[in-house]
Amino acid sequence: MLEIEDLKVYFRTNAGIVKAVDDVSFEVRKGENFTIIGESGSGKSVLAQAILRLLPKNAEICGRIIFNGKDLLKLSEKEMRRIRGKEIAWIPQSQTSLNPVLNVGFQCAEPLMEHFRMDKKSAFARIIRIFEFLGIGGNRIREYPHQFSGGMRQRVLVAMGISADPKLIIADEPTKGLDASKRSQIVELFRKIGDKTMLIITHDINFAENLADRIAVMYCGKIVEVSPAKEFFREPLHPYSRGLLDSLPSRGLKPIKGFQPSMINPPKGCRFRERCEFAREICKDEPPLISLNGRFVRCWLYDRGNWD
Ligand SMILES: Nc1ncnc2c1ncn2[C@@H]1O[C@H](COP(=O)(O)OP(=O)(O)OP(=O)(O)O)[C@@H](O)[C@H]1O
Ligand code: SF4
Ligand SMILES: [Mg+2]
Repeated sequence: MLEIEDLKVYFRTNAGIVKAVDDVSFEVRKGENFTIIGESGSGKSVLAQAILRLLPKNAEICGRIIFNGKDLLKLSEKEMRRIRGKEIAWIPQSQTSLNPVLNVGFQCAEPLMEHFRMDKKSAFARIIRIFEFLGIGGNRIREYPHQFSGGMRQRVLVAMGISADPKLIIADEPTKGLDASKRSQIVELFRKIGDKTMLIITHDINFAENLADRIAVMYCGKIVEVSPAKEFFREPLHPYSRGLLDSLPSRGLKPIKGFQPSMINPPKGCRFRERCEFAREICKDEPPLISLNGRFVRCWLYDRGNWD
């Protein structure tokens, strides 16, 4: 469905080149929920924006983003507009992306009118059905974003995302800023649309544990582990993945020492080296991506020939 190959996104800034996504490869399979987790600033949102070609002008991007056989990086802006919203839905990180001066029904119906040439009446009828399905209430379509609570605005964004029945949904931090009970409602909401192919980005590891089929862990612009969710939560492979899980209140609340390094001059070799309790001399070289029974990990620990 979606294959990312050797993707790099660099930003030219006055302070230097920010390597926000650096040589990232993974695939999202049809029907699965593929969830990316990782600390703030690790490049998750930039990666999602690269797939949708929504990056600012100072971004330099290379690699391949193959969606249903087409390289999205080679499409014109006009072709890309056809894919955005129709074939790939984007549920953005910020709820402020809703337009404050348009009612929510119109904002959700617009893609249907634009991409499917649906008339206004049929588009609104479909949105009412989706609002009912998502527990928003069909009678609220004429209300404006400020009339909704944070949790409800998030549902509206999900409604907007699924309205055109896209092939792939990309959601960035769908539970951000919500309290625990609202978060569990959003988990239920995503369960309801669980037959869709989804690429989810989240800080919320409980959300990931509840919904993901596979987990990718991103650290300082690199994917360091990709594992089926069950195995990941039973036994994370990468030392950073272990640190992320150990820092959860339910697993001992042990924070990872130190900070994520700068993306302008990241350390050579393994970028986690300065925080890793296992680091050795060899970790000054870039670790290979190692395949282990259907899992992938970028760490020298698993390269038995070089580690023992
Ligand atoms: N337009 C830009 N110009 C320069 N640097 C940028 C730009 N956009 C993002 N970055 C940098 O890219 C890096 C990755 O940012 P990104 O927003 O993808 O992080 P994230 O993993 O989504 O974090 P969070 O979990 O806080 O949302 C950060 O260091 C950020 O400062
Ligand atoms: S490559 Fe070395 S420093 Fe990096 S995570 Fe593995 S053991 Fe730690
Ligand atoms: Mg982000």
